[in-house]
Amino acid sequence: MVVYEGKSYEEISERAAQIVASELIVKPNAVLGLATGSSPVGMYKQLVKWNQEGKIDFSGVTTVNLDEYKGLGPDDDQGYRYFMNENLFDHVNINKEHTYVPNGLEPDSDKACREYDELLSRVGRQDIQVLGLGGNGHIGFNEPDTKFCKGTHCVRLAESTIKANARFFNSPEDVPTEAYSMGIKGILAARKILVIVSGAQKAQALYDIAYGPITPGVPGSALQLHDQVIVLADPEAMSVIRSKGR
Ligand code: GLP
Repeated sequence: MVVYEGKSYEEISERAAQIVASELIVKPNAVLGLATGSSPVGMYKQLVKWNQEGKIDFSGVTTVNLDEYKGLGPDDDQGYRYFMNENLFDHVNINKEHTYVPNGLEPDSDKACREYDELLSRVGRQDIQVLGLGGNGHIGFNEPDTKFCKGTHCVRLAESTIKANARFFNSPEDVPTEAYSMGIKGILAARKILVIVSGAQKAQALYDIAYGPITPGVPGSALQLHDQVIVLADPEAMSVIRSKGR
């Protein structure tokens, strides 16, 4: 795992966009694994700008997203399909039929998860998987647990996650309590993994995933098992790593 400290959120966002853009340059039909949340927003803005300037091309790209709230559909503005349209897909020359997010409207969890895993195997390994990091060390919606979940699964969201994500909803009661998430195996299948970490509230989790034991209690620690992980962190997110002299 390579941990790169940028000067600011803006700088790590641009660096993240450069890394994703370089994938598209060498492989125009790349499979991109994408994430939602505030962490990748700056990267998406930069990618949109370069696409509109004609510097990068999304026409051959396929995307698979990490997760979706159970019960939310494409028209729900707090849902992740909506987020992806707003932040990327509506502004670049991508074929939306080649963009995939778990089906939050499928009430049968087993079916939703099975179908998403089938889709992931059809599409093939992600050339690069973008990740944010939860304050409790979660990746996608793989919450702290006593075991790692391999495949796509239905997750009961941790209280701390519901609280952290309440800022996107009218009230904490509106945050769905369950989500469909790509599993750890699906994430580690990616050829390369890019983790964007910003803010002091992530500093302990970042230390734990990078230097702590590999444990399902800190799902992101599984990334230590992958040999192509790049973490881009701003100075606030680096504070615990720095205070421990790493
Ligand atoms: C959310 C998402 C994750 C995201 C993480 C961090 O709950 N399911 O995919 O990476 O939490 O979010 P943020 O970037 O907004 O801090």
